[in-house]
Amino acid sequence: SSTKLLIKGGTVVNAHHQEVADVYVEDGIIFAVKPNLKVGDDVKVIDATGKFVMPGGIDPHTHLAMEFMGTESVDDFFSGQAAALAGGTTMHIDFVIPVNGSLIAGLEAYEEKAKKSCMDYGFHMAITKFDDIVSRDMEIVVKEKGINSFKFFLAYKGALMVNDELLLEGLKRCKSLGALAMVHAENGDAVFEGQKRMIQLGITGPEGHALSRPPVLEGEATARAIRLAGFVNTPLYVVHVMSIDAMEEIAKARKSGQRVVGEPVVSGLVLDDSGLWDSDFATASKYVMSPPIRASGHGKALQGALSNGVLQLVGTDHCAFNSTQKAFGIDDFRKIPNGVNGIEERMHLVWDTMVESGQISITDFVRVTSTECARIFNIYPRKGAIIAGSDADIIILNPNSSFEINARSHHSRTDTNVYEGRRGKGKIEVTIAGGRVVWENNEVKVVPGSGKYIETPPYNYLFSGIDKADASYLSSLNAPVKRSESTTSSGRHSY
Ligand code: URP
Ligand code: ZN
Ligand code: ZN
Ligand code: ZN
Repeated sequence: SSTKLLIKGGTVVNAHHQEVADVYVEDGIIFAVKPNLKVGDDVKVIDATGKFVMPGGIDPHTHLAMEFMGTESVDDFFSGQAAALAGGTTMHIDFVIPVNGSLIAGLEAYEEKAKKSCMDYGFHMAITKFDDIVSRDMEIVVKEKGINSFKFFLAYKGALMVNDELLLEGLKRCKSLGALAMVHAENGDAVFEGQKRMIQLGITGPEGHALSRPPVLEGEATARAIRLAGFVNTPLYVVHVMSIDAMEEIAKARKSGQRVVGEPVVSGLVLDDSGLWDSDFATASKYVMSPPIRASGHGKALQGALSNGVLQLVGTDHCAFNSTQKAFGIDDFRKIPNGVNGIEERMHLVWDTMVESGQISITDFVRVTSTECARIFNIYPRKGAIIAGSDADIIILNPNSSFEINARSHHSRTDTNVYEGRRGKGKIEVTIAGGRVVWENNEVKVVPGSGKYIETPPYNYLFSGIDKADASYLSSLNAPVKRSESTTSSGRHSY
């Protein structure tokens, strides 16, 4: 962990461009990116010839040490981040959960949890109710605490769920603060009803989880959230898009010019629901997450949507539980803690599934695993790029080597892995975070407390023109013709 580093002879890849160049790092910052750099003897040199030198991954969606469903996810801000670094991810954005509805109390709890961080992190804030105090705290969180995104859960009835009235209030507040609204899109009332129906039928095993919340409920909630965001005229980010139903709603909205972002997660891209139907409870329960991992066919369609730009960036929804926690639901699938691992596996699986298969380019790999996340959460080009002045968060991937995933060797604290036994081409051999080599020779070297909180500032560009356009925009919603795209932007890298 020298403060001066030279990465020599690799192919440096950014979201739009790749070239053979050296990367010189000093004090945690990228100083120069040029071919044939000459440096002094005190510089640690890493040979990257024949390898790809890329921005460290940014995971837009994690739940470390999350209190949820009567327990707490097993990876905390140290173990989850160590696992992330071993898999080439150098920053994540976690969801702060309010305490008794209080955003400030929730944030204080998460600040405490994050003290042991060994890599950079940011926060989204979940909104679980709405009143004058929440409204005021949303402003404090945006203006003073560096959080520019709020997540609304349309599922988890009786716990995190908000109804349409609260969603609308929240969307309006996000808009007035220049913050991005995010949504967990499943119809929570219908899920509740579906769960009761399954139990009445005597279906108590993990397969009941999927049967009680089918794609139609994700499609409905996605369409509803998109339309309400369109009615308020504010951008929307749909988290963990798991089905064709949801993806098609996003495609339709983007085509019409609405600013909607779609985030698939690795589990939805590469797994299917076959594991959920395993007769062994321990095996089946490890796949339980919400929305559920879908029947074969959905994942392939989501891959296509990622490659054609309908979906823009890949998260994990890393929310890991061990088998004793999953066993809380042995007699009733409703008590199985929802969540799967992925923070360590995301980069390798996206490379293997999307790049090795020829579905996306290497520059697109950088875009969907890092750059787009940095842009959307307004921290680009400090993060998400290998250019002079950016943070030195860098990975070196050897395309000719291979990876293998299993619970024995992974760095997460879970005793299982939903990707158990998977192997593929492309191995992240080195991870550099904040200018320190933290993963090398299959070893993680980190110290608690070395990670920094990264503030995500409120938006200007994302919202520019929206207020001025409101009157004509609202009247255009009444017009019988297809909405004009003039008040919004479209295309691959915009909203
Ligand atoms: O099953 C899941 N996804 N657990 C984490 C909480 C959430 O809904 O994102
Ligand atoms: Zn969710
Ligand atoms: Zn989540
Ligand atoms: Zn672009």
